[in-house]
Amino acid sequence: MSDRTVDRRPGDPDRDTRFLYVVVCAAGVASGVGELIGAARQRGWETGVFATPTALNGFFDTARVEALSGRPIRSAWRRPGDPRPFPPPDAVVVAPATFNTVNKWAQGLADTLAVATLCEAAGLGVPVAALPCVADALAAHPAYRDSVARLRGMGVRFAARFTGEPDEHGVRPEFDWKQALDLVEQP
Ligand SMILES: Cc1cc2nc3c(=O)[nH]c(=O)nc-3n(C[C@H](O)[C@H](O)[C@H](O)COP(=O)(O)O)c2cc1C
Repeated sequence: MSDRTVDRRPGDPDRDTRFLYVVVCAAGVASGVGELIGAARQRGWETGVFATPTALNGFFDTARVEALSGRPIRSAWRRPGDPRPFPPPDAVVVAPATFNTVNKWAQGLADTLAVATLCEAAGLGVPVAALPCVADALAAHPAYRDSVARLRGMGVRFAARFTGEPDEHGVRPEFDWKQALDLVEQP
């Protein structure tokens, strides 16, 4: 990564490649996040992956995702004086977005690099999308409804909430990773 790249501003149209931040939370479907990284690379995005500390603890194959992304996953802050590992983003997605992370994000509780990255994202003026993976029982909590409303008000683009519950035929739906790209690519 060149200093020149790092010095560019978020969303700079003159930059050669578009850079997508992918924030991964600790939901069961996170095991499939490689699908999102692969689809993003195919659509011409460079990717930088952030994971919550819990997500790093066995929720997805980190070595595979690092190989697909071509960069180390970030979960902890860099040391003061160290260079920024990723260029600034042209778009940010959080997929899957857990109940916990959605609520912390809405409250501005930037206690992990993953949530701090999300907290900063809306202020950068780049598209931000969330693919919530939250069961009905948790989504019934008023804090969740308030958080989604607050984040929507900040311009965050939400996909329909994924519950993982089987449909009326007993078929479990697939988590639609590509929606994250569709949402940030919308004008
Ligand atoms: C196997 C497993 C699957 C989970 N799936 C979900 C989920 O789909 N959605 C969710 O909100 N929490 C889920 N959780 C709970 C979260 O991992 C937990 O709330 C955690 O604190 C979230 O941390 P994070 O938001 O920092 O990633 C799951 C936990 C386990 C052990």
